[in-house]
Amino acid sequence: MAHQVTLIPGDGIGPEISAAMREVVEASGVSIDWHVQEAGAHVMEEEGTPLPERVLDSIRETGTAIKGPVTTPVGSGFRSVNVALRRAFDLYACVRPCLSMPGDGSRYDGVDLVIVRENTEDLYAGIEFDEGSEGARSIIDTVAAQGAGTIKPDSAISLKPISVSGSERIIRYAFDYARKNGRRKVTAVHKANIMKCTDGLFLHTAECVAAEYPDIEFDNKFVDATCMGLVQNPADFDVMVLPNLYGDIVSDLCAGLVGGLGLAPGSNIGLNQAIFEATHGSAPDIAGKDIANPTAMILSAAMMLDHLGENEAAHRIRTAVREVLSAGESVTADIKRALTGSTEGSVGTRAYGVAVAARVAELA
Ligand code: NAI
Repeated sequence: MAHQVTLIPGDGIGPEISAAMREVVEASGVSIDWHVQEAGAHVMEEEGTPLPERVLDSIRETGTAIKGPVTTPVGSGFRSVNVALRRAFDLYACVRPCLSMPGDGSRYDGVDLVIVRENTEDLYAGIEFDEGSEGARSIIDTVAAQGAGTIKPDSAISLKPISVSGSERIIRYAFDYARKNGRRKVTAVHKANIMKCTDGLFLHTAECVAAEYPDIEFDNKFVDATCMGLVQNPADFDVMVLPNLYGDIVSDLCAGLVGGLGLAPGSNIGLNQAIFEATHGSAPDIAGKDIANPTAMILSAAMMLDHLGENEAAHRIRTAVREVLSAGESVTADIKRALTGSTEGSVGTRAYGVAVAARVAELA
């Protein structure tokens, strides 16, 4: 029976990389009914919202979605579709594997780590108060009354909620992931020396959960030291578990260790739904030019196929990507530039997708 999957092409480079991904998945022979659902800025004008209810209904029905990136306007305009989706389905675990591939154009070899990012809390919860608002004034007064410090009256304020339950479930997810995937170590990343209450809670929870997994090594690191350690010796890291904002930033750093954003896949997992998507955004600077690298989206589809129990097809897709990259003939401009300093001889998004799809079919 065909798997039911919601496909959100997104905007910017989203439609181009989604088309390449779909071609590769179809070449694997796995039978999928794609429920295509548009969301994002281009939907806003017609439907009054970037994330219409029909999209949520579709994901509720299929349980599995793969999405292209969606643009979020800075400062004003609508709130992030990505954050809204994570919240709607309580997709609390964002999992982003970072694996070196031969020919990925990176300065590093042998990177093999996994980011497990908490997806629902922290400064990313979007609880914010404008400068001069009643909410901001009330918080400023409360902080003063508690003797907790002084906030300038002309401040805007964002809140950073970190709960025991939210921390516990993501840390447990990281340890279970490590166990299931034969990983040796989990590192909790924090800044508990400065944010003693919030990050302190996260660290303390990690220490408690770690005690239940004696077979998995556990350590913890400050987020700043983590960034330095990652660029100096990424092989020191295995599974990393991070609160939301650190996870967001460190994910992009790690993508840079393995050939850039065009290669970094990801997933957002909840109890009943899972949404797969690349780490990168909608890249408006290169949209519509047939030069985006669809690998991250293709590898996100491989993660999705694993999730659907189609492990052989997922493995075949990863092998095909690895082979096409290491052959170095059909690679996109970002990879070519990293390898040779010039984009000469690179191929477009479509041609790269065709090359990977052909190899996927041959490997069957
Ligand atoms: P971005 O990831 O879109 O782009 C950063 C840089 O990487 C750009 O130079 C871009 O050309 C390059 N790049 C990204 N993906 C690439 C690919 N597949 N192949 C080749 N080059 C690639 O980040 P930026 O510019 O900060 O964000 C653009 C928009 O995307 C914003 O509106 C942001 O909110 C949104 N965004 C959406 C995400 C999602 O839908 N999951 C995630 C991150 C950002």
